[in-house]
Amino acid sequence: MRAVVARHRDDRGALLPILHSLMEELGHVDPAAIPILADELNLSRADVHGVVTFYHDFRQTPPGRTTVRICRAEACQAVGGNELVDRARSRIGVGLGETTPDGAITLEQVFCLGNCALGPSVQVGDRLYGRVGAQELDRLLGEAA
Ligand code: FES
Repeated sequence: MRAVVARHRDDRGALLPILHSLMEELGHVDPAAIPILADELNLSRADVHGVVTFYHDFRQTPPGRTTVRICRAEACQAVGGNELVDRARSRIGVGLGETTPDGAITLEQVFCLGNCALGPSVQVGDRLYGRVGAQELDRLLGEAA
């Protein structure tokens, strides 16, 4: 964490780049980082906490081994994106932003994956899938479990 801070210390508005780097390198922003970042950047803990909690992209717990993101933006919503979210929730028993107890899958919503013409879109790890129906979703979740 201190190495990440050192890389960005002289940037203007260093907090956001640091948080993004922590997400890339560690997969989450541990709450224990908040006082350290506040100290390093001469900010209050409340300021850092406010930024971390304002942006939903900054997870505070480690993600599961596979992250499944289901698009809920307008184009995907029109072709069943919300129904996929409901199905995924009931299939794996966790809500959005949560991880299955065995640490296999983190379920997230996303607002556009740049695949609007082929919705509903789902991203599993780094792979993007289009025109995902209920059975395809079940298959993807089964493979990730
Ligand atoms: S709206 Fe879902 S990929 Fe763009």
